[in-house]
Amino acid sequence: MSITDGLDLVSNQAYAEKGVPHDLWTRLRAESPVHWCTPPNFTPFWAITKHADICEISKQPDVFSSASGIAMIREAEDEAIRQQNQGFGAMRVIIEMDPPEHRSVRNVASPVFTPRAVKAMDATIRTSAREIVDRLAGPTGAGEGECDFANDVAAAHPLRILSTMLGVPREAEPDILRLTNQLFASEDPDLQREGEDRRQSIAELGLELYQLFDKIIQDRRANPRDDLASLLANAETDGEPMGMMETLGYFLITFTAGHDTTKNALVGGMRAFLENPDQLEKMKSDRGLVDSAVEEVVRWTSPVNHMKRMVTRDYELRGQKLKAGDWLVMFYASANRDEEIFEAPFEFRIDRNPNRHLGFGIGEHFCLGANLARRSQRALFHELAQRMEWAELAGDPEQIHSAFVVGLKKLPMRYRIRAAA
Ligand code: HEM
Repeated sequence: MSITDGLDLVSNQAYAEKGVPHDLWTRLRAESPVHWCTPPNFTPFWAITKHADICEISKQPDVFSSASGIAMIREAEDEAIRQQNQGFGAMRVIIEMDPPEHRSVRNVASPVFTPRAVKAMDATIRTSAREIVDRLAGPTGAGEGECDFANDVAAAHPLRILSTMLGVPREAEPDILRLTNQLFASEDPDLQREGEDRRQSIAELGLELYQLFDKIIQDRRANPRDDLASLLANAETDGEPMGMMETLGYFLITFTAGHDTTKNALVGGMRAFLENPDQLEKMKSDRGLVDSAVEEVVRWTSPVNHMKRMVTRDYELRGQKLKAGDWLVMFYASANRDEEIFEAPFEFRIDRNPNRHLGFGIGEHFCLGANLARRSQRALFHELAQRMEWAELAGDPEQIHSAFVVGLKKLPMRYRIRAAA
């Protein structure tokens, strides 16, 4: 009998109920690293679980195309999205483009995400981290308390940073947060959009996002400033103004790719620290370890759980014959526990070195926001390492109903924060 039909690898429900399927991946890596899956209600796919194979695939975007979509979702939902000719069904995002188009559209925003450009964002990033930890500390600036780290801390930090970059006014921050939650956790009963008809709900969600970003785009065309929103609103590709669907798509991908990913890394990282208090103590006593701790947090949490590709020509991988038109799914979370690459992969070690994790992907689509994601996490963990006297779990963490951007929606925590130095 086959090890798995793949349902537990891609079903949102399975992640909510059973958590991330590390046991299954460990078996697949050992016994069937290129595994044919036929889960009910999903298109069949090859499950790719080894680090080396994900590297090989990601470096050949001409053979493994992103253009047919990158998230493994149920066939019915996939169809509903594709049938939208308005809203985000029609938006074009770089993550779903292949070269050469991909390269020229990626170049539009890449100057904003270089290490140097992101360093210029430091004031915003640090202020956000300080304000959030101040809020935890309470009105006197120091004290004990309880919070839901997922919503009160981890969601708030990237929300402020990305909203600042994209020109989203403070009063619209809750709207944008709700919309991205609905987009990524469309099957989570606590986060999903209300409405009986899935197709209708998806159309409305797309329209709302469209309206929000369109207002900002029109404003930045009339009054350009020195920010990412203005750069995108006035961008050209190949000497022509960038199309409206590409422009809207850029806003959408920057926000959606940047928010829940960073949030899930932060909340999963905090949980790892609570469950490994020696590692928290280590970071508190040597804050020089914050940078490598952030790499370990991204490896450990792997917020982007998978990416899908379509095979464009017959290809042999570990003796398996992939056919043109087949789908494959690369599981980064599995590659990040690959015993052939990582010593003691199931141990959370903040001083892991080297740490060749694939949490940000690799190759053509390597995460455009990796520098920003790193700096945002460093700022928050640095602030916490400096000011958190102690912290402990105050209830059961809850997993989001999602097999794509994976993480916790609740992390109840008790803590004591000391005053800022
Ligand atoms: C811990 C946080 C993050 C993680 C784990 C993460 C992970 C990833 C991964 C795995 C990919 C590769 C997709 C593929 O191969 O198809 C990717 C692409 C991307 N990420 Fe991130 N990301 C994070 C934060 C961010 C942030 C903060 C931004 C922007 C503000 C961002 C923007 C993007 C964009 C635009 C792409 C598409 C790049 C392309 O297609 O060329 N990400 N990310």
